[in-house]
Amino acid sequence: MCGIVGVTGTNQSVSILIEGLERLEYRGYDSAGIYVNDESGTDYLVKRVGRIANLKAALTPEVQGLAGIGHTRWATHGVPSEENAHPHFSNDERFYLVHNGVIENFKQLKAEYLAGVEFKSETDTEVIVQLIDRFVVEYHMETKAAFLKVLHLISDDSSYAFVLMDRETPDTLYVAKNKSPLLVGIGEGFNLVSSDAMAMLKRTHTFMEIQDQEIVIVKPQEVLITDFDGNEKKRDTFRVDMDASAADKGTYPFYMLKEVDEQPAVMRKIVQTYLDESGSPVIDQKMLETIKQSDRIYIIGAGTSYHAGLVGAKMFEKLTGIPTEVHISSEFAYDQPIMSEKPFFIFLTQSGETADSREVLVNVKKQGWPSLTITNVPKSTLSREANFTMLLYAGPEIAVASTKAYTAQVAVEAVLAKGIGEYLQHQEALDFDLKQQLSLVAVGMQAIVDSKEKLESVASRYLATPRNAFYIGRGTDWSVALEAALKLKEISYVQAEGFASGELKHGTIALIESQTPVIGIITQDRTAGLTRSNLQEVISRGASVITIATKHLSQTDDTIVLPDVDPLLTPLLSVVPAQLLAYYTSLGKGLDVDKPRNLAKSVTVQ
Ligand code: F6R
Repeated sequence: MCGIVGVTGTNQSVSILIEGLERLEYRGYDSAGIYVNDESGTDYLVKRVGRIANLKAALTPEVQGLAGIGHTRWATHGVPSEENAHPHFSNDERFYLVHNGVIENFKQLKAEYLAGVEFKSETDTEVIVQLIDRFVVEYHMETKAAFLKVLHLISDDSSYAFVLMDRETPDTLYVAKNKSPLLVGIGEGFNLVSSDAMAMLKRTHTFMEIQDQEIVIVKPQEVLITDFDGNEKKRDTFRVDMDASAADKGTYPFYMLKEVDEQPAVMRKIVQTYLDESGSPVIDQKMLETIKQSDRIYIIGAGTSYHAGLVGAKMFEKLTGIPTEVHISSEFAYDQPIMSEKPFFIFLTQSGETADSREVLVNVKKQGWPSLTITNVPKSTLSREANFTMLLYAGPEIAVASTKAYTAQVAVEAVLAKGIGEYLQHQEALDFDLKQQLSLVAVGMQAIVDSKEKLESVASRYLATPRNAFYIGRGTDWSVALEAALKLKEISYVQAEGFASGELKHGTIALIESQTPVIGIITQDRTAGLTRSNLQEVISRGASVITIATKHLSQTDDTIVLPDVDPLLTPLLSVVPAQLLAYYTSLGKGLDVDKPRNLAKSVTVQ
């Protein structure tokens, strides 16, 4: 949520800021702005409501500088407007600040320290920049000391990634973070700061981590890290070898379509990375031993990641015999259930930055319980803070609606479940040929993504006009129904619900009327007949039924027939037509598939 970028030491500053913001636009697109300056004291502030394209169009040739900061916003405090857009500045126009996060006690700070100050925006961020200015101008503090003082005044439950500029020290970026992501990029003769590495990959592959409770002074040739007590900290750099073009759309009209198409390759990558010649998972032995000592697995996630957890729980129980619970992170964080004696936590998070999930991890660590983060982003916050990490190897996922990260999460959960099961000598795991099954999945996914024309026509026939739709299924199929419905609603704005098919008749069936689309997912032997009966019940009430059925359970009039794979892995196939139905529904309505309204990809506020 919100993307931040900063640069110092190059006359390319404006283009670096803009290209960085374009890469970070997935984090929010309500408004955008940049501030640049140079040693002569010339500076420019440009802000626009809406996309980066609007900001870019507003830049005149004289807007240049040697250093600058930029921001793309997902609105929290205050409507999307130019006044509320970042960078925010002090009334004397000396200090400029970009911020990602939420300052929970901004109203108290405003009341206590800034009575009588005129504010231009409704944001929490402006309070911080005005406060820094007050400490510098009225109490004659050095900028760094004033910044530190303000950081101390911000309540612990707040989150922030800040980049501050002071007109009096034009080549210096004052940087700090708490809970929100931020890292430094090391260039040749210039340095960068950004919410993620991808935004800087065109300019550098060398990065430096920033930890919570640190102040970082970034100059063109120097990066100085100190903790809040003023102790200098040494930090090694690390390389990110990813090619910047991995985050390009290529010839695809939207990232989502590219990412759906990449899923067979992601499955093959997971097989290559995690399974040895004989098909046994190659997993950290220390982690396996830790899990062996535990009596229950708790999977924590939000949104799509939570849905991937629901699918994974069934794999863990079947292949390891360890009872497994799945929880929504924003609920578990504030309503922890009675726990087992020796829990093991698995955090599922594509971004590795989700604030709700991180809140749980912080609590889990306080209670001394071990944890694993399964994420797509190496060195992300949840990856750094958990005891163990498994990466998804899905490549950058840019579309706001998650597709390949979901299937990668499910596949990596399968790897882990088999790995634990083998370690425990659990027969079900020993008998499960995951390598062969994932290869079948990759082939099956390819067949589905190759049938786009059919899915496009199903979407235009059934989903183009209705306001409501249902995905239904039982067990694993219900878990996929939840994810399928989320995809449809988030990008096409059709009010979609994923429902346990047997539960419909207990109330929700009242919503079925003539032509309501009901999509049945049928992949499990035990429940196929029951779900088909539930579909008959809605057909009798006028619903338009679409079926997604696995081959050996299919009937001649099924809409989409999936290749057969092991019942534990059918979600990897049944979700793909649902992703494409959502895509084509959104496309048919002329919506921005990759950037649905009100959303952002990396949700770093609670
Ligand atoms: C929906 C989607 C979200 C995320 C959720 C958690 O398509 O992507 O529901 O799954 O915001 O994000 P991560 O996985 O980054 O923790």
